[in-house]
Amino acid sequence: MPHSVSVFGLGYVGSVTAACLAKLGNKVLGVDVNAAKVEMLDSGRSPILEPELEEMVRENNRACRLHATMDANAAIHSTEISFVSVGTPSQRNGKLDLRGMQHVCQEVGAALKTKKAYHTIVIRSTVLPGTTERVVIPALENASGKKAGVDFAVCFVPEFLREGSAVRDFFEPPFTILGGANSKEIAPVRDLFAWATTPIYETNPSSAEMIKYVCNAFHALKVGFANEIGAICKELRLDTETVAKIFVADTRLNISPAYLKPGFAFGGSCLPKDLRALTYQAKELDLRLPLLESLMPSNQEHIERAVSAILQAKKRKVGLLGLSFKPGTDDLRESPLVHLAKRLLGEGCDLKIWDQSVSLGQLIGSNRQFIQDEIPHLGSLLCDDASAVIQHADVLVLGTKAVDKDSLMAQLRPEQKLLDLVNLEKGHRLSNHSAYEGICW
Ligand SMILES: NC(=O)c1ccc[n+]([C@@H]2O[C@H](COP(=O)([O-])OP(=O)(O)OC[C@H]3O[C@@H](n4cnc5c(N)ncnc54)[C@H](O)[C@@H]3O)[C@@H](O)[C@H]2O)c1
Repeated sequence: MPHSVSVFGLGYVGSVTAACLAKLGNKVLGVDVNAAKVEMLDSGRSPILEPELEEMVRENNRACRLHATMDANAAIHSTEISFVSVGTPSQRNGKLDLRGMQHVCQEVGAALKTKKAYHTIVIRSTVLPGTTERVVIPALENASGKKAGVDFAVCFVPEFLREGSAVRDFFEPPFTILGGANSKEIAPVRDLFAWATTPIYETNPSSAEMIKYVCNAFHALKVGFANEIGAICKELRLDTETVAKIFVADTRLNISPAYLKPGFAFGGSCLPKDLRALTYQAKELDLRLPLLESLMPSNQEHIERAVSAILQAKKRKVGLLGLSFKPGTDDLRESPLVHLAKRLLGEGCDLKIWDQSVSLGQLIGSNRQFIQDEIPHLGSLLCDDASAVIQHADVLVLGTKAVDKDSLMAQLRPEQKLLDLVNLEKGHRLSNHSAYEGICW
């Protein structure tokens, strides 16, 4: 069923949103403080240059589905749903400038004061997590004297369009994220996006706000990564295109969800060694690769987060479950858990360690030698039995998924702090233990 929608802010996002929603059969009223943009849209011309938009604006304006006004009050009273896509630029220090958003909240709130019917507001501008709940809703409640969730609803629905292909991106988004307080408040927005053929996810507004930033940060990371790889390939006189093409062909480990689950630091015999070798070679070539060079410090920082979380408990007796760099291997080379154990010993902790695959009795060959030569002080802290470590610890650190969860649960004492570094799958989380936390979940 068509809806009547107002769109506040007729820039790149707002103009495309307004025209596309009108093309879908909705009655759309654009609103802007810029008289020129309003006049253009209202007379059937696109306020921005974007492929396909000019024609779409003209057709829908002629069909009386797309108009524009500077009168925010009239726009709120004549529509059921309002999109907000005003600019949220950076201030000089990088802080987000919310003045446009606050101004819209004032205007929309003042209009809601005199509107009897329920109204839904959809924030489409990119704003930091918490903005909808802590800035937008209070501003609207103040200006309207009404209550969110009772008289009006506010949802956050991030926009994923890219300039240059904005119309196509609107109709074929990677996914649609509907952020709202509950299913009932999201319902009118869900209905408005019912045409979408790609997945729709419903979540709370803050998570929806965060996902937009995660996407953009990841896109920036990908561009930076590709460019640094390209730069070193060029210096080495390699065919960058071939390297990049073959790299992306791996959809199991490279272009995939692999390694993208927040958990503990990376380690092992390859990743740190190979990163160091590559960045050292770049230095020899007089190339600065700040992104690749930042990975080892970033990893170290993650280990320090675990150290801080453990020391915060102000208990000396610490138990570490897991020591090798991943379950099922006894390889201790560059294991982040070995670094963690060393740091804890340095801080004066009374440490006991258990790892299913690592115990001095079982160790063979190079790893036995490694413990004896490199970390003899850790070797003497290894226990054959996880129970001995659990019983010893005031703070228990879960560094491996290779634990018997039921046995662990049965032995945990209520006052024991449990720090889960490996982010056990939700269903396996020991959520009924009160002093249970992670370092990045
Ligand atoms: N441009 C993109 O590709 C893109 C993509 C996704 C998300 N976003 C986000 O969407 C938001 C809008 O981006 P944009 O590029 O369309 O911005 P823009 O600067 O092109 O347009 C913003 C519009 O808002 C209007 N405006 C400001 N205050 C207003 C008010 N009180 N009432 C009505 N209109 C008002 C301005 O006059 C302007 O026309 C930003 O938060 C941006 O980060 C942009």
